[in-house]
Amino acid sequence: MNTFSYKEIRDKYIEYFKKNNHQEIPSAPLVPENDPSVLFVNAGMFPLVPFLQGETHPKGTRLVNSQRCVRTGDIDEVGDASHCTTFEMLGNWSLNDYFKREAITMTVRFFVEELGFDINKIYATVFKGDETAPKDTDSIEAWKDIFKEYDIDAEVGDRIIENGKEDNWWGLATGGPCGPDSEIFYEVNGKKLEIGNNVFMEYLKTGDEYNPLGRHNVDFGGGLDRITCVSQGVDNFYETDIYKPIFDLVKSLGKNDILVSQRIITDHIKAATWMIMDGVEPSRNEQGYILRRIIRRAIRHGRKLGIEGLFTRRVGDIAIQQFSPIYSQLEADRERILNILEEEEQKFSRTLENGLKESDRIIKDGEDLPVKAFKLYETYGFPIELTIEELQNRKIEFNEENLLNGFQEEQKKHQELSRTSSAGMFKGGLADTSDMSTKYHTTTHLLLATLRKILGDQVYQKGSNITPERLRFDYPSDSKLTPEQAKQVEEIINEQIQKALPITYEELPKEEALKMVPFAAFSEKYGDIVKVYTIGDKTNPYSVEICNGPHVSNTKELGTFRIAKQENVAAGIKRIKAVLE
Ligand code: ALA
Repeated sequence: MNTFSYKEIRDKYIEYFKKNNHQEIPSAPLVPENDPSVLFVNAGMFPLVPFLQGETHPKGTRLVNSQRCVRTGDIDEVGDASHCTTFEMLGNWSLNDYFKREAITMTVRFFVEELGFDINKIYATVFKGDETAPKDTDSIEAWKDIFKEYDIDAEVGDRIIENGKEDNWWGLATGGPCGPDSEIFYEVNGKKLEIGNNVFMEYLKTGDEYNPLGRHNVDFGGGLDRITCVSQGVDNFYETDIYKPIFDLVKSLGKNDILVSQRIITDHIKAATWMIMDGVEPSRNEQGYILRRIIRRAIRHGRKLGIEGLFTRRVGDIAIQQFSPIYSQLEADRERILNILEEEEQKFSRTLENGLKESDRIIKDGEDLPVKAFKLYETYGFPIELTIEELQNRKIEFNEENLLNGFQEEQKKHQELSRTSSAGMFKGGLADTSDMSTKYHTTTHLLLATLRKILGDQVYQKGSNITPERLRFDYPSDSKLTPEQAKQVEEIINEQIQKALPITYEELPKEEALKMVPFAAFSEKYGDIVKVYTIGDKTNPYSVEICNGPHVSNTKELGTFRIAKQENVAAGIKRIKAVLE
């Protein structure tokens, strides 16, 4: 297979669709222009919603671009191989122009003819139909025909996989244009990776109702970073041609070799350059708050790596260099971006210093350290973890447990405040705040607790993903649930729902929380203070978990739980997809 650079893939995609009579449209800025309901653009189709609903687009009915996006909901996961704060999504659209057959054919031809992907490694998914919408037979026929062009007899159940709404339906969580989708998967080292998704928008969702949209649109989206990994034969985007120089510089700056920290700095500083380019500045509110959080998080990881002195300018500089062939605005704004980064770094360093001086003084004055530590946290985002670390560095005597306990009490007193100032702002926009997503969050906790009851304490959450249509949950196990076990899980969960159990939470320092929830997976991703959610009575809870939420306040809001599907994900990992009805 040929190997192409990130930029070559991007250019080839746009050229290919232009050849097919699409007009190129620029990437919209990261901050939505006319929609205050989300902080950042989070999918390629987002800026096109009015046109998908029928407004006339000045450039016509066939559009193509590569849209920069932010997924705030993924920020805490950054550091692994695949989650990133900002990325580009390749997109092509038909606004009531071509439909399924042409879309699927063009997608396949792009990957095979233009990028040299092997047709034998391509798999498809299609919507199998339910009571609200019929089976997507047109897509199935289109897939069979395109495979046949390459002498492959593709069968449903083999190369073409049918799924329900939980997998093959797409729309924004708040409703609007939506429809069945058809994903394209590529097999790499025995694993099938999604490399693109054609959404066939022919419905309009209002509340819980699906009505015909009266138009047939196509919304294709493909993650450019992921496609580049496949083309270049690497399993994480930090190794691709565009990110590697940034990553290598970060690696060379530090004394300590900590992969997660190196990745977080690479991702966050690159993301910060894009946000600043689009007019965001560090602040206490909304987009500015997210920007401040990621810059400060990068700086804290810089400390972990033992980087001395200011470093965000150097990392930002190379991030700009890498991406300015794509966004010339980065080059034009270079100094402004780097100055803002560095100012924030200086400000944070001062905050740290002042905070530390304060701590010294407080101890001398005999003031209440937890109260002050909390004030620093609340006012400057001065993390308790760092307070402790620095107190230790300065050999100042204190009792860590008392400090943590006191801090936690302060936190409780200010719970209402922190709910609005931190938790509320850090959610992933529309997609994460819808009612259905909230319900699925809570249901995921019920599912984990129930699996642990039935299968044993070795079960933990290996992975989870929520859309407004379903929950997806991965856990370690050699075999799927038997039909009896699946039925038992459903019954037990529905019993808990009927019991109308309350859901409550408290915010605790990470160490405390991990003591309460020893099986918590992904502990790396948590911040210094985490939320611990309890389902049921505190003295005898059904479930206790570390989680950012959001959650419903009572299980009676959930409806009826049903396991829609079980799958093998990898050796020893099983997946459950479940729905609420
Ligand atoms: N908007 C569709 C997605 O994000 C293409 O998957």
